[in-house]
Amino acid sequence: MLLDNHGRRITYLRLAVTDRCNLRCFYCMPEDGLNWLSRTELMSYEEMLRVCELLVKMGIDKIRITGGEPFVRKDIMQLLTALSKLEGLKELSLTTNGVLTAPHVAELKAIGVRSVNLSLDTLDAGRFFAITRRDEFANVMDTMHELLKHDMEVKINAVVMAGKNTQDIIPLVELTKDLPVSVRFIEEMPFNGDGHSYSGVLWDYVHIFDEIRSVYPDIQKVPDPQYSTAYNYQIPGHLGSIGVIAAYSRTFCGTCNRIRITPQGTLKNCLYDDGVLNIKDLMREGKSNTAIVDALRVAFNSREKDGWAAERKRMENPNFHESMATIGG
Ligand code: GTP
Ligand code: 5AD
Ligand code: SF4
Repeated sequence: MLLDNHGRRITYLRLAVTDRCNLRCFYCMPEDGLNWLSRTELMSYEEMLRVCELLVKMGIDKIRITGGEPFVRKDIMQLLTALSKLEGLKELSLTTNGVLTAPHVAELKAIGVRSVNLSLDTLDAGRFFAITRRDEFANVMDTMHELLKHDMEVKINAVVMAGKNTQDIIPLVELTKDLPVSVRFIEEMPFNGDGHSYSGVLWDYVHIFDEIRSVYPDIQKVPDPQYSTAYNYQIPGHLGSIGVIAAYSRTFCGTCNRIRITPQGTLKNCLYDDGVLNIKDLMREGKSNTAIVDALRVAFNSREKDGWAAERKRMENPNFHESMATIGG
């Protein structure tokens, strides 16, 4: 069992495979994009597989592939296929924006992926364009239907932003009436690569829930899976469910089971920290597996208590402006 210095089990790795993306969501990056990482700055698939194999042996049993957008990295299905064969891995899943995903759904299912999280902040094509700065709404909806056709578990991630898409909360809730999807509303976090200033969370989880309850007073709490970041609910008679993720308020740090690896191979013990170890550098220096495992153990033994402590430490570096695309969400 892999434990951190606060006695929390670590079982879940979020591996970001690229910082690049075919959308430009304003809460994630500036319109002009980022200063993209070069090929040599990125971990190779061989390096990713090596570290994943080590981590699974240490106790990780769930890996989520994130980005940027995973499907803009060449041959991503090769990496997913290799990961799906790791002995000891119980769950492999991914978070995608759905623009390029539909043609891969059958293969994802064939290699054992059972669940896909889809980013979708609005059901209105015009607002989709305003938020993502790209005209790709129809492709994302195609992906959603393709996933459902293949009986995949689908979670829809909608970041709630004042002045941008709060009018979409109820239409997104209504999607759960006839479709077996989980729509999860997420508090906006300050990781936009400085594409716009962040003025605090205007729509926190309480505000989001109150908005839903004002239209659906009979909404009911349902049990949250272990380690869930979302508070889960259901509206009687609806096929799908609703979730609210207090990503900024950070109400779930006490049971945090997750670590992250960025596209450049940096280990993050917390979404809000500054990176605690560069695993790619260790591999490129020729370190043995034993030495890498030792370095990982040291890192897991110095995890901050929660996202607030991690953020305070990160703020010691005043020039730090991170984009969600270089963290992996
Ligand atoms: P499941 O495995 O389905 O529970 O997914 P997930 O919620 O872990 O992953 P997903 O990539 O769909 O993320 C949904 C939202 O939750 C994103 O906005 C993430 O940034 C946020 N989130 C995920 N993990 C954490 C975390 O450890 N801390 C915080 N603050 N937010 C997180
Ligand atoms: N705040 C909250 N969630 C964000 N995501 C991306 N940027 C932000 C942000 N600034 C979400 C996306 C994606 C998930 C991995 O992270 O909606 O689904
Ligand atoms: Fe791309 Fe996802 Fe960031 Fe949007 S949130 S720009 S889809 S990485």
